[in-house]
Amino acid sequence: MRFLVTAGPTREPIDPVRYLSNRSSGKMGFAIAAAALQAGHKVTLISGPVNLDPPRGAQFISVSTSEEMFEATDRYVRNCDVLVMCAAVTDYKAKNVSPGKIKKRDANFSLQLVPTRDILGSLAKQDRQFLVVGFAAETNDVEGNAQKKLRDKNCDIVVANDVSRANSGMESDENEVTILFRNGEKEKFSRTSKQIIARELVKIIANMREKCLTKKM
Ligand code: CTP
Repeated sequence: MRFLVTAGPTREPIDPVRYLSNRSSGKMGFAIAAAALQAGHKVTLISGPVNLDPPRGAQFISVSTSEEMFEATDRYVRNCDVLVMCAAVTDYKAKNVSPGKIKKRDANFSLQLVPTRDILGSLAKQDRQFLVVGFAAETNDVEGNAQKKLRDKNCDIVVANDVSRANSGMESDENEVTILFRNGEKEKFSRTSKQIIARELVKIIANMREKCLTKKM
């Protein structure tokens, strides 16, 4: 099976020295890529800027902005069986990127932001052959908000995680997730290493993709 995994944050430039981004470390996405390789799948890993070595055997594509991540994902997803959209794509970017360093002044400063493209939303809504796994980073009503993303972004699976806790989710080596399926079923994983969650997730995804293929035949 061919997996396309996105990971890490994106960076949206403000000027030559500043950017908007988030705390994503890329650990969950890299763990999924490694687990998929271990299970014998082919993996393309598209990542924003992180401090991690790509797993050996993965086709690795390094990107920075959300638009670069969209272009790479759009290109590689066509040859994939599964898209795992684990990246924490920055939601807004500067309307105008300053070509020179913005000088400090003794006054308040406002920056006009515009939304970035929703990569998952736009790719999953197309007529598609690949299975779509989205992630949901939430601080409140974790399951309710994740259910909404499952529907709105036309995902087959959403992995919901509570990012309000310091010992789980963003930047941590551990995670605690609830996996939501389209038929309303769900599976909970209490706090454990991202490697263990990744292994289980890859099994669930591969099983589901197999089932979809058998149904179509
Ligand atoms: N996502 C995406 N493109 C974006 C924003 C998010 O593809 N511009 C994807 C993420 O990779 C993830 C899912 O959408 O798989 C949900 O991301 P999340 O950050 O939880 O939610 P948002 O859609 O950004 O909504 P909100 O910030 O309001 O929770």
